[in-house]
Amino acid sequence: MTGPLALTVNGQKRRPPDVPDDERLLDTLRWRLGLKGTKEGCRTGDCGACTVLVDGETTLSCLTLTHEVAGQSITTIEGIGDDAVGRRVQEAFASESALQCGYCTPGFVVALTGVLREVGPNAPSSAVLDGLQGNLCRCTGYLAIRRAVERAREAKR
Ligand code: FES
Ligand code: FES
Repeated sequence: MTGPLALTVNGQKRRPPDVPDDERLLDTLRWRLGLKGTKEGCRTGDCGACTVLVDGETTLSCLTLTHEVAGQSITTIEGIGDDAVGRRVQEAFASESALQCGYCTPGFVVALTGVLREVGPNAPSSAVLDGLQGNLCRCTGYLAIRRAVERAREAKR
């Protein structure tokens, strides 16, 4: 089946035409909707660069068919700062300089936002880090990212 489908992306209704059944959400976001902040890394579910939120759940857009998420609410890095948790995570990454090339950063920011919303305040650090196990960074050695995670987590209290 091909044809228009209704998506809600960052709070806006979008109707990309002629999306094939087998098109991945990652490609729809980047190439049809122009939301290039969602990055393509491995395309096999192993790096987390393509992470978005679907109805608030962290989701790998490279492993998700666009038609599967019709009618659901999708949040990409472009919309992650629209709420307080997402803004805090962005600020934490900036404050801790938790990036080098930045390619993995949208995935980390989106994933951490989703995790912090899910585990709630006062969750132990280990629970937050567990939620980020699928996100890889080739540059930073993770120390600055861990500081950003702690900053964002502690700011929630
Ligand atoms: S591009 Fe989706 S997990 Fe790597
Ligand atoms: S900052 Fe370069 S891959 Fe993470």
